[in-house]
Amino acid sequence: MFERSLRIRDFHSKDLDALHAIDRLCFPADIAFSRRYLLCCLNQTGSLTRIAELPGGIAGFILVRIENNRRGHLLTLDVVPASRRHGIGLALMEDVHRILKQRKITAAVLEVGTGNFPAQCLYERLHYRYIETLPGYYNGKEDAYRMLRLI
Ligand SMILES: CC(C)(COP(=O)(O)OP(=O)(O)OC[C@H]1O[C@@H](n2cnc3c(N)ncnc32)[C@H](O)[C@@H]1OP(=O)(O)O)[C@@H](O)C(=O)NCCC(=O)NCCS
Repeated sequence: MFERSLRIRDFHSKDLDALHAIDRLCFPADIAFSRRYLLCCLNQTGSLTRIAELPGGIAGFILVRIENNRRGHLLTLDVVPASRRHGIGLALMEDVHRILKQRKITAAVLEVGTGNFPAQCLYERLHYRYIETLPGYYNGKEDAYRMLRLI
């Protein structure tokens, strides 16, 4: 439905407030990034941020940190609730995989809450494989699965 109007582009500093608001829509208050932490992640060396934009505004974003020029570490993937199940999360992930491949990065790693069924379905569809369980990864309240995909 959104395929034709969806544009995936680079992050600009003027997007910060919109991304912060989206992250707070996507995650509980104790898990969502603070504005300061988000800014730090966006600006750090190796940060790769891509924005999914619809004619009405930003619908989602993905934030990846490239570690040691060796692997992409997914820090967050957010799609606003009103735009979910239209392929935006998938499009953002595939866009990042394409960029990692161009940069000759050979692996992508991520953590996902053990109760986050939608995200687990998405990552399994993209051939991410379970590596380990991280007890209390989310503020000591929820465990996470670490997953890996070779690019
Ligand atoms: C997880 C998230 C990013 C998915 O974004 P999305 O744009 O809705 O995902 P897509 O529409 O691209 O879904 C692609 C595929 O993933 C799977 N999937 C996505 N959401 C799903 C759900 N709620 N239930 C089951 N499968 C789901 C399906 O296989 C889907 O394909 P289909 O719609 O053809 O069945 C979104 O739900 C979100 O922002 N959640 C809150 C934040 C979050 O948990 N981020 C991940 C942190 S690790």
